[in-house]
Amino acid sequence: MSIRTVKYMGEKCLETVSTEMSLSDPALKQLIPDMFETMKSAEGIGLAAPQIGVNQRVLVFGFETSRRYPNRSPVPYTALVNPKLEILTDDIEYDWEGCVSLPKLRGYVPRFSKIRYEGFDENGKQVSRVVEGFHARLVQHEYDHLEGILFHERITDRKRFGFEDVLFPEIY
Ligand code: NI
Repeated sequence: MSIRTVKYMGEKCLETVSTEMSLSDPALKQLIPDMFETMKSAEGIGLAAPQIGVNQRVLVFGFETSRRYPNRSPVPYTALVNPKLEILTDDIEYDWEGCVSLPKLRGYVPRFSKIRYEGFDENGKQVSRVVEGFHARLVQHEYDHLEGILFHERITDRKRFGFEDVLFPEIY
């Protein structure tokens, strides 16, 4: 397992639509553990392959507790290859998001409150879950990375975008 270099906003790999990953690609065996390791080392709660410069459709996410996102219900540690999302409601919720590719920044981002996601885990087993709230938000954020979209592009009130230590001094 090794920690990969996280790419920051401005890199082309973060603006690129990623391609599907073959489940039989031997690179997956290394990629997924590395992504979990890199996510944890960056104190992230999710990471998409483009964030380490790999433009293929692979996500990892999950946390029990997070210093950077206190008071959120835990999300099971999950790897998803070739995920598909289905929006299950018109209801939109707003909450603050950050991203390890935009260090120290937070924005107030609208997301659908309920989705179904499907994909394949690190063992090639199918995953299918219906989720709501922060879990749904996290997966939508990570999925956006596969489409070359960063969270600040989703912000509707541009004034609600700023530095973590100013907006949330309590987590510092
Ligand atoms: Ni992100």
